[in-house]
Amino acid sequence: NLFVVLMAGGVGVRFWPYSRNSKPKQFLDVLGTGKTLLQSTFDRFVPLCPIENIYVVTHEEHAALVREQLPQLSDDQILAEPMRKNTAPCIAYASYKIALKNENAVIVVTPSDHLIMMEEVFQDVIKKAADMAQGQDKLMTLGITPTRPETGYGYIQYHTEKNFAKKVKTFTEKPELSLAKKFLESGDFVWNSGVFIWGAKAITTAFHQYLPEMAEVFDEVRPKLGTPEEKEAILGAYSQCKNVSIDYGIMEKAKNVYVCLGNFTWSDLGSWASIHEISAKDENNNVINANAHTYDTRNCIIKGSPDKLIVVQGLNGYLIGEFGNVIIVVEKDKEEQFRKFVNDIKAKP
Ligand code: GDD
Ligand code: MG
Repeated sequence: NLFVVLMAGGVGVRFWPYSRNSKPKQFLDVLGTGKTLLQSTFDRFVPLCPIENIYVVTHEEHAALVREQLPQLSDDQILAEPMRKNTAPCIAYASYKIALKNENAVIVVTPSDHLIMMEEVFQDVIKKAADMAQGQDKLMTLGITPTRPETGYGYIQYHTEKNFAKKVKTFTEKPELSLAKKFLESGDFVWNSGVFIWGAKAITTAFHQYLPEMAEVFDEVRPKLGTPEEKEAILGAYSQCKNVSIDYGIMEKAKNVYVCLGNFTWSDLGSWASIHEISAKDENNNVINANAHTYDTRNCIIKGSPDKLIVVQGLNGYLIGEFGNVIIVVEKDKEEQFRKFVNDIKAKP
């Protein structure tokens, strides 16, 4: 009774123009493995449960892309959202659908745009966590040892105990830098990996407790799920839901959160810098995925189509990319800039 929900509704703004509204990051072969991030995520769960228990939730404009990339899925395993309301409604929708099929389901909820290496270790942690979640009112998270005061993650402080699943003291989503630094120094915090494991009952109970308006909306929709009226009912439901992530909406508030420490290699591939870090590099520490000639160039990422020759001289720490109709040359570590580029372009097309 293990079910998996792949969340694939994000836009990946920080990778514009590589990741775009027409094809966000999870639908791209970011690491050059021959598989998109969504496909790699799917494959990671295939050994753990029957394929018919794997669901993907995405914006309706990307449902066709999911179908194309994961032809193993039937249409009712692809949940199309009429609008982006962040991860809480996405998880509510999937949980209600799955609970209808199996009220004793244990559900693994996962981002679809992360890198995980040492997959057997990961699968082993998931199996153990799923066993602990079975029939329990527990919300399980996977913690990753932090290496820098990253402000884009959730921080989990836990009771030091020998148990595999440790009781969580505090969950702080995206702290300010000063707080993130304190957390890192104190040593009893881990990053939230964004993967959750819980019983269908436990998560619906949590929705009723911490996001009661959203739970009510989905309680009303429940009889329509799996009927021809589902699409219209979901449109109505999403229009009423507030935009909130599961982290702010539930995880920060819940008292029954547990964390299992993950000893696998994890990267959320959240920035060009993180892609640079994990990719193969030449002798000058450049990641080159293009037909490129470089001179006196270090610590760069060069990405372009094979039919364009890119010549670079004298750059250090840049992203030089040719993506369709856009050429971009920017300092690769200035991630906060990318949102601005996109906004500026929207303002003056
Ligand atoms: N279906 C759907 N609908 N999916 C969504 C939506 C939505 O509206 N919004 C985001 N997602 C998907 C993204 O595609 C991604 O796979 C996943 O949900 C997580 O969303 P992000 O927007 O990437 O979250 P985050 O990175 O800011 O923060 C989360 O992940 C961190 C680890 O990478 C939090 O859980 C943090 O606590 C955590 O540390
Ligand atoms: Mg993310």
